[in-house]
Amino acid sequence: MILVNQLNMSFLSIPENVAFARVTAAAFASQLEFTINDLEEIKVAVSEAVANAIVHGYGNAIDKMVAMEIKLYTNKLEISLIDEGIGIKDIKQALQPSFSTDPERMGLGFVFMQSFMDKLKINSVPGKGTKVIMSKNSNDKITIAQ
Ligand SMILES: Nc1ncnc2c1ncn2[C@@H]1O[C@H](COP(=O)(O)OP(=O)(O)OP(=O)(O)O)[C@@H](O)[C@H]1O
Ligand SMILES: [Mg+2]
Repeated sequence: MILVNQLNMSFLSIPENVAFARVTAAAFASQLEFTINDLEEIKVAVSEAVANAIVHGYGNAIDKMVAMEIKLYTNKLEISLIDEGIGIKDIKQALQPSFSTDPERMGLGFVFMQSFMDKLKINSVPGKGTKVIMSKNSNDKITIAQ
């Protein structure tokens, strides 16, 4: 697996940055051979992870930082979203469809991330923060011989 490109950035935990992160991730991911549908799925997964960092990790505080790291390999994209918020006590429970610590929410963010990406990994320490690592495989680049 060869690393072909990498992006590291961090942005303020304001709701406007959910859309910013989503569009940025899709623009960067488009350097690989993803379909329009794949890019839409990546956008949804990134939106859900960033929204979780802001809403749950930081309890909607608008003065914290969320980091996004993207690695492009020849035929795989890996995106990590990192916050230094409250962390997740029980990851298995958090992954259950329709589980939410907020009764107003649907509890579907992780379900979308899991179904739209090929792999999802969560590292979280209560009181320290959460890192969500998602990857998606792309097709090989087709090169036409002259
Ligand atoms: N970055 C995070 N920091 C702390 N807790 C989190 C984080 N991400 C998720 N969680 C916890 O995991 C639960 C499940 O997350 P998930 O995204 O699946 O659902 P939700 O955010 O509650 O609802 P929805 O995404 O449908 O609005 C959350 O309710 C929250 O308790
Ligand atoms: Mg969510």
